[in-house]
Amino acid sequence: MELLVPDTVGITRAATLLCSGELVAFGTETVYGLGADATNPRAVAAVFAAKGRPRFNPLICHYADAASAFRDVVPGAAADTLAERLWPGPLTLVLPRRDDSRVAMLTGAGLDTLAVRVPSHPAARALMAATALPIAAPSANRSGRVSPTTALHVIEELGEQVAAVLDCGICTVGVESTVLDLSGDHPVLLRPGGVTLEAIEALIGPVARIGDAKTVRSPGLGVSHYAPSCPVRLNAHTVSADEALLAFGGALAGAGTVFNLSPHGDLIEAAARLFIGLRQLDAEANRRGLARIAAMPVPERGLGLAINDRLRRAAAPRPTHEVIDESA
Ligand code: TXA
Ligand code: MG
Repeated sequence: MELLVPDTVGITRAATLLCSGELVAFGTETVYGLGADATNPRAVAAVFAAKGRPRFNPLICHYADAASAFRDVVPGAAADTLAERLWPGPLTLVLPRRDDSRVAMLTGAGLDTLAVRVPSHPAARALMAATALPIAAPSANRSGRVSPTTALHVIEELGEQVAAVLDCGICTVGVESTVLDLSGDHPVLLRPGGVTLEAIEALIGPVARIGDAKTVRSPGLGVSHYAPSCPVRLNAHTVSADEALLAFGGALAGAGTVFNLSPHGDLIEAAARLFIGLRQLDAEANRRGLARIAAMPVPERGLGLAINDRLRRAAAPRPTHEVIDESA
């Protein structure tokens, strides 16, 4: 692991590592983030592996400025106002993803929305500018642990898992960014954080909170997880003619429509391809009038836990509403 200082040399080195698919932890005004190129699904899968996350929670994409952020999402009037007044700063906006966004499907956990933010820490902004990429960064702690606010915390927790840590000093805000969902009819506060609700409401009017009647959404809308429209059958050891196959390792004989998550059984590769695979098979199955997606077993270790969690959700009876309320 390299410990870098945020001068020109350090920032350039950190940017080079990020651009080549490595993980770099860096400080923001809120907490330290575990950064990866958001457009590189393997780098993003490595973030989930390093955190030991048992689930694929969608990650926030970090940018040097609002114009860069709004190339990946569609801002409305409220987003424009908030970006103008509160960016750079500890505010994350969830907005509809643009069709031509370069961000990997895994970064947004397969959702039709993306969370974007422009941090105010000068070193973090310089790093985003030097990469010219969206940088996916969850808090740089192992899953279930508290978020780190110094470089030393990160080294203790994830030193073995990252190529470098950019020492940006102590985080001045110390709590994560406020997450505001602007993708639906009403703004919804998904996570309180560094920007107060009062500051937001002063600019855009009333904001609903998770648990309010207004925050209940239908699947496929707002913050609901992407679920294939096709039923999913788990643990497939055989495949029938009316099924599309989500393979892992050697594909089963007899399948016509196949997406192989990883022919060599590599869990990082499988995680990187999971959401693309589900979408692709779902579209193919609908086009060919197939009955369901049959998913081969994936080992229950490493990223296999998160992959299986996602597959079980895809296979479960569809809830009428669901909200994401996690900040692990
Ligand atoms: O201050 C912060 O936001 C820090 C620094 C590093 O920027 N990052 C951070 O990331 O706290 P993370 O991954 O620990 O938390 C991201 C939160 C989660 O609660 C996640 O569910 C939510 O943002 N989120 C991300 N994308 C979303 C989306 N498309 N829809 C709904 N919620 C989303
Ligand atoms: Mg976190």
